[in-house]
Amino acid sequence: MTKSLDWANLPFKYMKTDYNVRSTWKNGKWGPLELSDSEYIPMHIAATCLHYGQEAFEGLKAYTGKDGKIRIFRPDANAKRMIATAEYIFMQPVPEEMFLEAVKIVVDKNRDWVPPYGSGASLYIRPLLIGTGARIGVQPSDEYTFIILVAPTGPYFKEGFKPVSVMIDRDHDRAAPLGTGHIKVGGNYAASLISIDLAHKGGYAASLYLDSGSKKYIDECGPANFFGIKNDTYITPYSHSILPSITNDSLCVLAKEMGLKVERRKVPYEELSTFEEAGECGTAAVITPIGKIFDATTGDIFTYGKDGKPGPWSEKLYNRLRAIQYGDAEDPYGWVTIID
Ligand code: PLP
Ligand code: COI
Repeated sequence: MTKSLDWANLPFKYMKTDYNVRSTWKNGKWGPLELSDSEYIPMHIAATCLHYGQEAFEGLKAYTGKDGKIRIFRPDANAKRMIATAEYIFMQPVPEEMFLEAVKIVVDKNRDWVPPYGSGASLYIRPLLIGTGARIGVQPSDEYTFIILVAPTGPYFKEGFKPVSVMIDRDHDRAAPLGTGHIKVGGNYAASLISIDLAHKGGYAASLYLDSGSKKYIDECGPANFFGIKNDTYITPYSHSILPSITNDSLCVLAKEMGLKVERRKVPYEELSTFEEAGECGTAAVITPIGKIFDATTGDIFTYGKDGKPGPWSEKLYNRLRAIQYGDAEDPYGWVTIID
């Protein structure tokens, strides 16, 4: 029985569900996937994830369709990205098959927590890979723990599909690149907390980062990629220090399908003044239109859209993406894994 929660008003927040799934790699092999109802991990005090940030995480979502079936969006892409991350920071990768199996098990065992169709909420799936072997020198671990936890969530930005304001903070970069080798490691998000805090204190929903070397180009937002639209062209930054977003990759496909040109290239700061529409995109953020960008150093302000409404292309892209994710439209790209 589906839980009775106030689904339409769920925040993007951790909530205990029934199970998480776990496996440990030691003595050269992965152990079986085990279900756990504990929210805790017993861990060695010298674990490499604690000392040297040897950890990676992923984020994907499951949705209930009108037909009552649960759909998971592009889990194979998350599995591949986690393998790339693991290899980059010398962790034992989780094989794609095992990752997919674990996602299916954890969603199936937490069916009651998958928000109903029409609520606007979804089940957020958070795979985590951490070095749990003891090391005092800077070396890779000899033991790894893979866990997937889930939580029903509402929109990441409380505004939902409404334009937000974001702030450029040139003084605080994320310490390490997120993009190199397609990585999504945990520690470098902590380096962005200061910037997010400054943005929130200024009344902004998020930070927008410039490339940390030259500060000439747009990188991405705190939890999401950036895109701008002008002259029937969807433009998104190419950068070594951003996360290759699966949502953005999907939007590039959908934009082409709608007849837009797609450009993935360096986006100079000055180009911000030329976009007709701008937005953030990611699993948690979905598409969050940007209404205003404020540069705290230069005082520049860039605005997008009219009357506080999302632009027409952003709206079309949002509706098309949602329709595929919820199963309201055909899935011509084979993006959705169904759990009956
Ligand atoms: N950029 C950052 C820094 C992120 O944390 C995320 C979310 O995972 C994204 C972009 C969006 O990536 P995806 O669309 O794969 O969720
Ligand atoms: C996601 O969109 O899945 C993310 O990981 C963003 C965030 C909560 C860091």
